[in-house]
Amino acid sequence: MSTFKAPKGTYDLIPPQSATYLAVREAISAPLKNSGYGYIETPGFENVELFARGVGESTDIVTKEMYAFETKGGDQLALRPEGTASVLRAALEANLHKAGNLPVKLWYSGSYYRYERPQKGRYRHFSQVGAEAIGTEDPALDAELIILADQAYRALGLRNFRILLNSLGDKECRPVYRAALQDFLRGLELDEDTRRRVDINPLRVLDDKRETVQKQLDGAPKLRDYLCEACKAYHEQVRELLTAAGVAFEDDEKLVRGLDYYTRTTFEFVHDGLGSQSAVGGGGRYDGLSEMIGGPALPSVGWALGVDRTVLALEAEGIALDIPAATAVYAVPLGEEARRVLFGVVTELRRSGVATDFAYGGKGLKNAMKSANRSGARLALVAGERDLAEGVVQLKDLESGEQTAVALGAVAEEIRRTLG
Ligand code: HAM
Repeated sequence: MSTFKAPKGTYDLIPPQSATYLAVREAISAPLKNSGYGYIETPGFENVELFARGVGESTDIVTKEMYAFETKGGDQLALRPEGTASVLRAALEANLHKAGNLPVKLWYSGSYYRYERPQKGRYRHFSQVGAEAIGTEDPALDAELIILADQAYRALGLRNFRILLNSLGDKECRPVYRAALQDFLRGLELDEDTRRRVDINPLRVLDDKRETVQKQLDGAPKLRDYLCEACKAYHEQVRELLTAAGVAFEDDEKLVRGLDYYTRTTFEFVHDGLGSQSAVGGGGRYDGLSEMIGGPALPSVGWALGVDRTVLALEAEGIALDIPAATAVYAVPLGEEARRVLFGVVTELRRSGVATDFAYGGKGLKNAMKSANRSGARLALVAGERDLAEGVVQLKDLESGEQTAVALGAVAEEIRRTLG
């Protein structure tokens, strides 16, 4: 062991489990690639103001959880706590919205950083795969994204997840609701921190998990009763499209989300086997974000699914993904001459696309065969001096144990034939 450990709240992805993470990323991105989303990658850090303005000055993410720092050159930067603000910034910077093809549909996959109190499912470094559809107001786009996330989770075999759906209203109706809610909340017995939250972000109080707060919230004004006609009609269409697609959801008026940029449609995917960190993914519409970061009006919608929590959800459901063994053929040379010859065969096999590994370091037969078995390979290729003198190598089927001598010149072909 080294004297160093992974920093608190982080962990390393190590084979063979790391293959599951790659497969999850692949499974989440596959339906996006198939639906017109192009890949985007942005820097791991941005100007801190982008997140302060975008995610919201009053959110926990910005006030407590951001890894913000000043560079030697005096720039104020932050490790990205989420992807939406960065992706929108990049799209605006590249003028993608001016190319005459709205919505701009983008997907991404990467690491995000939040200085949170670590616990199972909540880390300081975590991975998301996300999607953003920028520049179009159309309920079918909101529905598309929810349907694609549902499709990704189902393709992974997950069943015990639920989709919570809400509408947060728009810039017309939400301020009216906000004021009514503030009036109500100011009449309650709340601690100082919560009273401050009532002033800056009253909707978040509805999300307070404490019993002392929750029991006072009966009778709070409901956003549903304040939605304007346009928001109601929009939300109804999203609901109808989901229903028509056979995607089940639950209306959840308490769903407010932890980022300030949302308008209208908001949703969360929760998994019932994960305890308190049950949100495996979330997203919604953010029609005002572009203007908040200095861009034109670009109504947009998106989501991000957490890779770490999706892997935990698979574990909770006892799902083992069908991940093909990384190695198909394992070559075992016995002696110097065999080493040279088999290394050539290995190189040829690899060039023709056969996943092949080699017993390095002059291992003895017993040790090398153990490595061959551990690698998950279907075939072992073994050769010693006597084999080479006869112009053959031994091809051993590691499942059946059957071994055949194959002419050296024909072995690559024979292997490709056996593996199909
Ligand atoms: P979010 O709900 O903050 O949304 O994060 C999305 C997902 O990332 C969560 O559901 C969870 O699975 C995962 N996640 C978040 N924080 C952690 C953590 N500390 N440890 C492990 N996993 C975590 C967003 O980030 C928005 N940008 C989503 C979005 C995209 N909205 C519109 N477009």
